[in-house]
Amino acid sequence: MESLVPRRTFQDVILPASTRRALDQALAHVTSHDLIFNRWGLGQRHPTGLALAFNFAGPSGTGKTICAEAIAHTLGRRLLVVRYAELESMWMGETPKNVAAVFRIARQEQAVLFFDEADAIATRRSTSVDHGFQRETNTVVNVLLQELESFDGVVIFATNLAANFDPAFERRIRTHVLFEMPALEEREQIWRVQMHPTLTPLADDVSFRELAEKYEVSGGDIRNAVLKAALSAAGEPVRDTHKLIHQRHLEEGIRDVIAGKRVMKQSLFDPQPLNAPHPRSAPSTSAYAIAISIVALLLAVFALLSALL
Ligand SMILES: Nc1ncnc2c1ncn2[C@@H]1O[C@H](COP(=O)(O)OP(=O)(O)O)[C@@H](O)[C@H]1O
Ligand SMILES: [Mg+2]
Repeated sequence: MESLVPRRTFQDVILPASTRRALDQALAHVTSHDLIFNRWGLGQRHPTGLALAFNFAGPSGTGKTICAEAIAHTLGRRLLVVRYAELESMWMGETPKNVAAVFRIARQEQAVLFFDEADAIATRRSTSVDHGFQRETNTVVNVLLQELESFDGVVIFATNLAANFDPAFERRIRTHVLFEMPALEEREQIWRVQMHPTLTPLADDVSFRELAEKYEVSGGDIRNAVLKAALSAAGEPVRDTHKLIHQRHLEEGIRDVIAGKRVMKQSLFDPQPLNAPHPRSAPSTSAYAIAISIVALLLAVFALLSALL
């Protein structure tokens, strides 16, 4: 969990017109909500059912996090970022407590609450209660709904899937904002906003248009490519004042990013390809799993002993 003072604004985000419109609408809801329930004090009179929940849905690197930050910035509030997986505690029964704690902190700090990577909330609620695991998940979702019911602030969920929220959740969500992969024009602008307008030393051969045309990537990929490019330009063996970011640095950067993602995908979905690039990764992963199980087993034995003695 991370509580931050937002710095980035909507000026730092390049979005397709439809996403922009949906966000503007969300923002209008948020600002009047803040006015009515906080500044006009109606939140104290009407203590339940006031939370304003949004779902930002879209692939990774399309600007969901920056937009959550920009919303908090517009409201002049902190942003409390919670990765949903972090809430799912190792110990059964602890997760609902964690959820409650998160809402308590958000209330104390009057922060905008941002549940990142929240797909699990959307998809995992199950009607069957055959397994302990599923029962636990149901409890978490129920606790979340309860907390949402008595929270009077702004909550944003970020999901990667076109999420299937269960109906109880769906009812709580005011707007779904769809984040799409940037098109050509947007990509060109995103390349540009990743540079400092005056300080970044760009060579004359840099063409953002060409980069945007050649590489159909997300804003997150462009960001990573720019950082890689800057690093390799900074490493050139010339005096600092002569260092420039050239087109070739940016090209290498984005190709690196794309190649890196391919390797990730391959090792995730295709564990034993011919000419596997990482033949060692499989055994080391299972060794890691075995080590974790041994540690867990030892802990369980200790717990049992201390309960018995
Ligand atoms: N639409 C966009 N406009 C400008 N920059 C973007 C955009 N999308 C992503 N980026 C860049 O990529 C980085 C990661 O994006 P992020 O907001 O974390 O994406 P998500 O939360 O959807 O995975 C941002 O910090 C920003 O630098
Ligand atoms: Mg993000």
